[in-house]
Amino acid sequence: MSETSSHERSATPAMAPSAGSAAPVIVPMHVEDLAAADRILRLSFGTELRLPDPMQFRGDSGLVLNRFQMYPEASFVARVEGVIAGFGVASQWGRVGLIGPVCVDPAFWNRGIARALLRELVDAIDRWGCTAAGLFTNPLSPRHLRLYQSFGFWPRGLTVVLARAAAPLPRATLPWSRYRGTTSGAAAPDPTRLLAEASRFTGGICPGLDLRREMRGVIDHGHGEVLALHEAGLLTGLAICHVGAASEGGSRNLFVKYGQVAADERSAERLTDLVHACAAVARDHGAERVVLGMVTSRHAAYRHLIDMGFRSEFQGVRMHRPWGELEDGESQWVIDDWR
Ligand SMILES: CC(C)(COP(=O)(O)OP(=O)(O)OC[C@H]1O[C@@H](n2cnc3c(N)ncnc32)[C@H](O)[C@@H]1OP(=O)(O)O)[C@@H](O)C(=O)NCCC(=O)NCCS
Repeated sequence: MSETSSHERSATPAMAPSAGSAAPVIVPMHVEDLAAADRILRLSFGTELRLPDPMQFRGDSGLVLNRFQMYPEASFVARVEGVIAGFGVASQWGRVGLIGPVCVDPAFWNRGIARALLRELVDAIDRWGCTAAGLFTNPLSPRHLRLYQSFGFWPRGLTVVLARAAAPLPRATLPWSRYRGTTSGAAAPDPTRLLAEASRFTGGICPGLDLRREMRGVIDHGHGEVLALHEAGLLTGLAICHVGAASEGGSRNLFVKYGQVAADERSAERLTDLVHACAAVARDHGAERVVLGMVTSRHAAYRHLIDMGFRSEFQGVRMHRPWGELEDGESQWVIDDWR
C-alpha cells in the first residue's frame, strides 16, 4: 500500500485540489496541533451529522489527546498553506491495526485531504507489521464506503453502539478488580501481571490481538480504569473503560472501549457481572450511563445486552482489510466498536 515513505507527503496529482488552492502536506502531529485537531473532530462530524451546533459533537469527551498519547507515531495532520485542514490517527491492537478517525475541516472537503491522510495511516499500520486492519464508518454514506474500499477495506457487518443507565444495576457477584492511575500519590495496583494475562486472554480469540497499549494508555494517562474478573486465579473477564471529562467517555458516560469474557456455558453470567462492575465504576465517577459497541454477528452477546436493557444509539459498518482475516463469530463474547 506504500506509495512514498515521506513524512511530508502531498496528495497525488489525480486528487489535486481545485485551482488556486495548495496541495495538502501530511506531517506527524505535535502537541501544539491538538487543539486544532480537536476542533476539526467536532466541526467535521457535527457538520456531517447536521447538528444545530456542530461544535457540541461528543460533549466534553475527548479523543485526539488520548490517541496521540497512545500512538504518536500514527497521528498525522494535513496542512494546507500552513493551516491544519484535517487529521487522522491509527491504533495498534497487536497485529490488528485500526484506522480512524479521519477528519477534515468542512472548508477543505472534497480536495483529496482524507485520501492523503489515509495513505499515511495505512503505511503506519503496515510499519507496525499488522496482518489485519479495520475501521468503523457511516453505513449510510456510499462515498465513505468508496473511499475506504479504494484502500482495500471492505464492509463486513454492522456494529451497534448501545447504551443504558448505570443505575439501578446490582453488584457483580464474581470477584473483580480495578486498575487505574493515581494523581494523588497514593499507591495504585500494579498492572504488570494483568497486562501479561490480558495479552494471552485477547490472543485466545484472535491470535496476536493485544490491547496492552490501550490498557497502559488508560491507566497511565488517567482516562479511566481497566477492570478484570478472575475465577480460580484465571482471567475470565476484561473491560477497558474510558470515563471522565476529556476521556473518550466524557463525564456523562463510561465507555467500554474493549471488553471480553471467556467463552463457555458461563459467558452470559460473566458478561452480566462485567457490565455490573462497569456500572459501579461509572457511578463512582459520577457518570450516568454505560456505553459500548457490539458487532451484531456476535449474536448471543448482542442479545444478552439487549436483554440487560441496552438500547441502540446508532450503528456503523465495520470494514476489514483483508476481508476474511478477522473473525466476528457467534462464539465471541467481545465488546468493541473500533471508533
Ligand atoms: C469523510 C471525510 C473525512 C472526507 O474528507 P475529504 O478530504 O473531503 O475527502 P477526499 O476529498 O479525500 O475525498 C474522498 C472521497 O470522499 C468523498 N467525500 C468528501 N467529503 C465527503 C462527505 N462529507 N461525505 C461523504 N463523502 C465525502 C469524496 O467525494 C471522495 O469520494 P470519490 O473520490 O469517490 O469522489 C470528511 O467529509 C469528514 O471529515 N467527514 C466527517 C468525519 C467523518 O465522517 N470521517 C470518516 C469516518 S471516521
